[in-house]
Amino acid sequence: MIVAIDGPAGSGKSTIAREIARRMGFEKLDTGALYRTVAFACTLHGVDLDDEDGVVTLSRSLDISFDSAGEATRISVDGRDVSDDIRTPAVDRIVSKVSAYPGVREAMLPVQRLFAQDRDVVAEGRDIGTVVFPNALVKVFLTADPRERARRRVLQRHPGEQLSDEALQREVDETLADLERRDRLDSSRETAPLRAADDAVRIDSSRFTIDEVVDQIRDLISKRR
Ligand code: C5P
Repeated sequence: MIVAIDGPAGSGKSTIAREIARRMGFEKLDTGALYRTVAFACTLHGVDLDDEDGVVTLSRSLDISFDSAGEATRISVDGRDVSDDIRTPAVDRIVSKVSAYPGVREAMLPVQRLFAQDRDVVAEGRDIGTVVFPNALVKVFLTADPRERARRRVLQRHPGEQLSDEALQREVDETLADLERRDRLDSSRETAPLRAADDAVRIDSSRFTIDEVVDQIRDLISKRR
């Protein structure tokens, strides 16, 4: 069984998918991590991001594997754990360029489908309900107020820290600009753009608590099972 959760950056997909996986015994598939890994591999191997053929060729050659046993999914490429390397502002800035190349998306399709073979999976990304798993049992398109999305991202970056109002506002403004730039690129690309599937249920996560969103999705799952 597949549960597809799509939506823009910072809409809460990751947190919600993790909770669904934990409570329902599903495996979580973070598809953004794949594109981040390709982007990071380009910097590692010195591949020019404007060189589409070079990026696509590299993406096809990568041996990417997931370990979703722990609290956070670990991802490795060619035997190297890159879980931390792929979550940097530098990768945030370049990932949408790499993920817009059709050849890169094609190379990532079998990785995602193989992961979901013979198991229950909650997959989160941008094109899960439209392209990767169009037959998913439940499809959710998660949105949230842009400023709230930026605020959550900043707080995630500083767990347990007490930021001054001024520092928080400054970082929220910068993060908001980055999220909006990424959403624009992801929504306007030709291949598999960020889009809600026609049969997706839209949920605005800024109007509910995490538990409420998780409960809504669990209801959808139990109704369709
Ligand atoms: O979800 P996350 O923010 O980690 O995704 C990083 C980037 O990966 C997105 O901005 C988008 O460019 C790309 N992506 C994608 N398709 C997906 C998941 C992520 O193009 N299914």
